[in-house]
Amino acid sequence: MRIAITGSSGFVGSAMVPFLRAAGHEVVRLVRVPDGSGDSLAWNATTGALDARLPALDAVVHLAGASVAQRWTAARRQAIVASRGPATEQLCRSLAALPTTPRVLVSASAIGIYGNRGDEVLDETSARGSGFLADVAADWEAGTAPAVAAGLRVVNLRIGMVLDPSGGALARMLPPFRMGVGGRLGSGRQWTSWITRRDLVRAIAFALGDERLRGPVAAVAPGAVTNQVFTQALGKALRRPTVLPVPAFGLRLVFGAMADELLLASQRVRPTRLLDAGFAFAQETIGQALRF
Ligand SMILES: NC(=O)c1ccc[n+]([C@@H]2O[C@H](COP(=O)([O-])OP(=O)(O)OC[C@H]3O[C@@H](n4cnc5c(N)ncnc54)[C@H](OP(=O)(O)O)[C@@H]3O)[C@@H](O)[C@H]2O)c1
Repeated sequence: MRIAITGSSGFVGSAMVPFLRAAGHEVVRLVRVPDGSGDSLAWNATTGALDARLPALDAVVHLAGASVAQRWTAARRQAIVASRGPATEQLCRSLAALPTTPRVLVSASAIGIYGNRGDEVLDETSARGSGFLADVAADWEAGTAPAVAAGLRVVNLRIGMVLDPSGGALARMLPPFRMGVGGRLGSGRQWTSWITRRDLVRAIAFALGDERLRGPVAAVAPGAVTNQVFTQALGKALRRPTVLPVPAFGLRLVFGAMADELLLASQRVRPTRLLDAGFAFAQETIGQALRF
């Protein structure tokens, strides 16, 4: 397939591009700032305008979006909002207007759509939750409507915490845990639904090819754990103690509202649609995921 990808420079995108190429696909990187390299073409994240030289595409993987993993200042909130719903809608309008429309769009979303749900087991059939991230993710998914209307098969991948030691949340956790000062966040009772980056790129490729998948698809491993269990598993993997909890008020002091919605929120998500479609996770348990 010829596949265009946004967000190719990111933590997930930088693993996605070589994975697709190794599988024999042709990849066109849609970038906000063209870097002059032969495989990249311009995409305007505000207007959705695509480089006129864009060749006919079979598929699009849309991963772009401003990072949520930092303190949410007013400017950051604005960037997070603008780069999700509105940017996705404009991109989808442009895809719908192409002379040859792609067959499939796999568009990132996030399990933040569920809000903070305690021990409830959630999947694609569960109602959305409340909060800033839930609103952002709901808009993000709604933004794909023009592509659905144009007949593309659209998969909204509700991604959990992506794990790989080279980046994302795990790379931030490793230094304190390696120093032996890592610990559970708040009560540690909140559920963490995670997926290894390796399995996420495999799941995206699977979704590109499996005609049965459309609409929301949870991209999380079957082995969601509480933050307490996650903390113990990381300590065990690094052979370090994890006896120093990080109090919730400290997290709120440093990260503001982001602490409650990202670090302390509980989402126990089951990947029902991927499992039903026969997707085989390479890393199903947190022990397997944290083997360095
Ligand atoms: N990592 C996780 O744990 C996780 C969890 C749930 C959901 N997700 C979602 O999955 C997607 C990929 O995640 P990631 O970890 O690879 O993210 P990332 O490393 O932050 O990369 C996202 C990419 O989006 C583009 N981007 C940055 N700011 C932007 C803006 N203001 N407007 C439009 N595009 C912007 C950049 O690509 P260019 O510079 O090439 O345009 C960037 O490389 C994101 O949408 C993220 O929200 C990630």
